[in-house]
Amino acid sequence: MEFTIRIARPEDAELLHDHIRRLLEEPDIQIPLHPDEFTLTADQQRQILADAPSPACAICFVGEADGQIIGEINFKRGTRRAFCHVATLGMSVGAAWRNQGVGSRLMTEAMAWAKSTEAVTRIELFVYASNHAAIRLYERFGFEIEGRRRQAVRHHGELVDDLIMARLV
Ligand SMILES: CC(C)(COP(=O)(O)OP(=O)(O)OC[C@H]1O[C@@H](n2cnc3c(N)ncnc32)[C@H](O)[C@@H]1OP(=O)(O)O)[C@@H](O)C(=O)NCCC(=O)NCCS
Repeated sequence: MEFTIRIARPEDAELLHDHIRRLLEEPDIQIPLHPDEFTLTADQQRQILADAPSPACAICFVGEADGQIIGEINFKRGTRRAFCHVATLGMSVGAAWRNQGVGSRLMTEAMAWAKSTEAVTRIELFVYASNHAAIRLYERFGFEIEGRRRQAVRHHGELVDDLIMARLV
């Protein structure tokens, strides 16, 4: 099915919020945020999207199909002057849409934006060491593993490792 990638708009807040909630409720999702810890409201989400893209803040791209949000990718920049050239990346694609190239398209757009800003020169992320699909996608886009944080995450009662990955823009 057709989908488009575009910068998220304030009016996407509600659907984006629903997308994240659905994602966090997946039983095996490898994201270190429990559904009851997702306290951001749709109104706060709207405000974040209204402020972005801003050189001081963040940007979010969404995948859209048939009026629904099917995926998102976001950058959050460091707020201290020492770190404001660093953006932390997060991304997700709805379960029904995975392995169909949506993540790659989101990443392509996000990287083009990062290159065009000049303000961001390093992009980093954390990923569960067992999240092979995500790691493969990140490596394909030039991210390198810089370290392994042993037992950094509690996942279903087990302590598991995550990786820090980064690429210079
Ligand atoms: C990670 C994620 C965003 C990728 O999105 P996507 O739309 O499926 O990405 P694409 O279809 O563009 O690419 C997926 C790649 O993973 C590969 N892949 C899928 N399952 C895999 C597995 N078990 N082992 C290794 N590679 C795998 C696919 O082959 C494809 O790579 P290729 O194109 O080089 O063959 C998506 O899986 C997702 O949202 N997962 C849940 C949330 C999440 O984990 N987010 C990342 C947190 S760090």
